[in-house]
Amino acid sequence: PSMLDFVQQLPKAELHVHLEGTLEPEHIFSLAQRNGIELAYKTPEEVVAAYDFHDLPSFLAIYYAAMDVLRTEEDFYELAFHYFERAAAQNVVYVEPFFDPQAHTSRGVAFDTVINGIHRAQKDAAATLGVESNLILCFLRDLSAESAAEHLEMAVPHLDKLIGVGLDSDEKDNPPAKFAHVFARARDLGLKLTMHCDVNQKDILEHIGECLDLIKVDRIDHGINALEDDSLCTEIARRGLGLTVCPVSNRFVVQNLTAAEIRDMLARGMKATINSDDPAYFRAYMNENFMALVEEADFSKDEIRTLNRNAFEVSWMDEAKKADYL
Ligand code: HPA
Ligand code: ZN
Repeated sequence: PSMLDFVQQLPKAELHVHLEGTLEPEHIFSLAQRNGIELAYKTPEEVVAAYDFHDLPSFLAIYYAAMDVLRTEEDFYELAFHYFERAAAQNVVYVEPFFDPQAHTSRGVAFDTVINGIHRAQKDAAATLGVESNLILCFLRDLSAESAAEHLEMAVPHLDKLIGVGLDSDEKDNPPAKFAHVFARARDLGLKLTMHCDVNQKDILEHIGECLDLIKVDRIDHGINALEDDSLCTEIARRGLGLTVCPVSNRFVVQNLTAAEIRDMLARGMKATINSDDPAYFRAYMNENFMALVEEADFSKDEIRTLNRNAFEVSWMDEAKKADYL
C-alpha cells in the first residue's frame, strides 16, 4: 500500500489539538449567519487568504478574533463534533483535546455553556463515531494567575468532564512559575498537568526546567528546544514524559517541520508524538502532519509506528483500554 494508505489505516491518537483551532472557515460563516454577526470577509476563501502567520503572536491574533462567532452551547457542540467527524475520517480513535475557556468568558460566554456543549459532542462522538476523548482545560498564560485560579474553581463542578489542565497562548514573559499555585491545586483535584513550551520562545530552557522541577508536569506540549540541553533530555527520557510535537504548526511558526528534531528525540529515547495543534488554521489534520514528514523528510513506516505508539503510551486513556493499542 502507499504511504498515505498506511498512515490512513493506522488507528491513531491525537494529544495536542485546540478545539478552537479546529474552527473551519465554512463554519465561521454558518455560525456568523446563525448568530447575526457581520464578518469582515465575503467568502471562506477570503478568510483563508488572510491567514498570515509567521510567529506565535501573529497566529494568536487571528485565532482569538475568529472565536467571536462561538456564542451558544450548540455552537461549541458543533465545533467539537465537526472536529471528531474529521478525526474519525482519518481513523483517529482517541483524542485529548484542549479548550480555552478564558477566551470565551472574556466575551461574556458562560463557562458552563462552553464545557457542556463540548462534553455533549464528546459523548455523541464516542457513541456514533467510535472516537473516544478526554478533555484538557487550558489556561491562557498571558492572563493573570488569579484569572486562571478563578477558572479552575469554575471547573470544579465539572471535574468528571476533565482529564487535565494545560497552559497555552503567548509564552513571552509568562513562565510556568507564574502558575505554580494553580497547577498545584489542579494536581490536588486529581487532574493531569501539561504545559506548552512552544518552539524558540524567549527563556525556553528555563521554562522547560520549571515544568520538570517546579510544576512536575505529566507531559510537555511541543518541547523541541529541550534538545539544546542534554540534562533536560536525559530527565525527560528517564521520566518517560510525552512530548506533543506539531510539525506543520512548527512550519508556520518557525518555518521548519522540525523533522530532524523529532528523529533526535526518538534516538534519545524521548516519547515524541505527532499532532495537528490548530488544524483548521494550518490546513493539516493528523494524516497531513504524518505525510509532511514522509514527503519532506522520508519518514519510514517504522518511525511512524513508533511515533503513533508513543501517543497511546503517554496518553491519559484508561489503562485497560490502552492495552488494546500497545
Ligand atoms: N501555542 C500557544 N497557544 C496556542 C497554540 C499554540 O500552539 N495554539 C492555540 N493556542
Ligand atoms: Zn498548541
